[in-house]
Amino acid sequence: MENQRLGRLVLVIYPLQGHATPVLQLGDVLHSKGFAITIAHTRFNPPNPSNHPHFSFLLLPDNLPYSDTSQTPSVDDFEAINRDCHAPLQELLELKEQRVDCQVVGIIFDSLMYFAATVADHIKIPRLVFMTSNAAFYQAFAAIPRLMAEGFFPFQDSMLHEIVPQQYPLRFKDLPVLRENMDMMQKLIDLASNFQKFSAIILNTVDFLEQSSLLQLQQQYQVPVFQVGPLSKLAPAISTSFLKEDSNCIAWLDNQTANSVLYVSKGSLSMSDSKELTETFWGLANSGQSFLWVVRPGSVSGSEWTEVLPKDFKEIIGERGLIVKWAPQKEVLTHSAVGGFWSHCGWNSTMESLSEGVPMICSPQFFDQKVIARYITHEWKVGLELDGELERGGIERCIRTLMVGKNGAEMRERATELKQMTSVSIHEGGSSYNSLIELTEFLLANNI
Ligand code: UDX
Repeated sequence: MENQRLGRLVLVIYPLQGHATPVLQLGDVLHSKGFAITIAHTRFNPPNPSNHPHFSFLLLPDNLPYSDTSQTPSVDDFEAINRDCHAPLQELLELKEQRVDCQVVGIIFDSLMYFAATVADHIKIPRLVFMTSNAAFYQAFAAIPRLMAEGFFPFQDSMLHEIVPQQYPLRFKDLPVLRENMDMMQKLIDLASNFQKFSAIILNTVDFLEQSSLLQLQQQYQVPVFQVGPLSKLAPAISTSFLKEDSNCIAWLDNQTANSVLYVSKGSLSMSDSKELTETFWGLANSGQSFLWVVRPGSVSGSEWTEVLPKDFKEIIGERGLIVKWAPQKEVLTHSAVGGFWSHCGWNSTMESLSEGVPMICSPQFFDQKVIARYITHEWKVGLELDGELERGGIERCIRTLMVGKNGAEMRERATELKQMTSVSIHEGGSSYNSLIELTEFLLANNI
């Protein structure tokens, strides 16, 4: 019975795949802890209610001009959503308060949905910010105003490979800077400077991976920081995909030998051009290794899908490769046939890979992905860097090193250790397990 629950939490999601997934997973985890869950979402990219029958949903009128999931909200949209959804969320919650089964005890919002904080203030309940990337990224991002004040910006190309003062292992090229959009950059800096005004910060990460960054975040913002990852392991295996998952690839994986397949996916936002797609294809084909490759429709500029590949591409790769539009990624990464993941290093993909012991090839595209890639390769040492312009020879060599080389074998061993440590952290007595209990106590102590 919902009215026997500890209280209702409203979770406000941002309409991008990498943002919505971990918040929905957090909703599942907090539901299992006894809270009733309401998901507030935009009209664009709504979650599928039938996948979450135990949640209730609040539709926020976003006024976004999109109709299909291949489109991505722009910078202006992010500000428009915050402007247009404020009043409706407040009204909907006030109405709910009058007739509801159980009292709203807190709002947890994606950091891009900051309007929710003022709604929480109005209703006088705690406002907790969920940060969808990793602690090292936020800590590096928080250092940028200092680096600017110390005269490091704009930095010269000659400095790109130098280590940033007090930010080891990051080089200047790894800093999360939107060099082509300093206006947006400033908006995000302003946004981050507000984090100390929130009641608490929640991150989908694990203590042992990011101990020092987590400590620095806590010192910087002076609010409780809860690290409750990996959410993909804590939440039940329910699809959160906006795109249709092609499950046939699991049957294909069933026919492959252990650790023999490279899984290739660049997440929900990354874009490429026809040259990059073609070089990737030949790199994969010439590597001699088996691969499962996600090419998201609309992700190659000027093409709908894979039209730019050689007409006989299926004959070239034969049974050794499979290309799909969207995969059930979490299931793919748990499959014993998968021995490597060539990724753009989005944080969800990274956590999903680390917690399954799958070593990686890192091709970050922008922003937090560059920080994450550097930590994968130089801090956790479970991945190879494949950066810059992609060309078939370099791709082929990198794939061989990861899949059948000595280096790759060492990384696989290390990744297996991280998988075991992650498993310890989510079970009784582990850091994420304890952090979840503390989060639950925090929500109750601040309300009931
Ligand atoms: C982006 C950022 O890169 C990320 O770091 C940030 O925190 C959130 O926004 P995205 O680029 O989509 O997200 O990458 P990622 O964070 O890896 O999220 C992608 C999600 O889509 C993952 O949960 C992955 O499992 C899922 N996915 C991807 C599929 O289910 N199927 C696919 O074929 C590809």
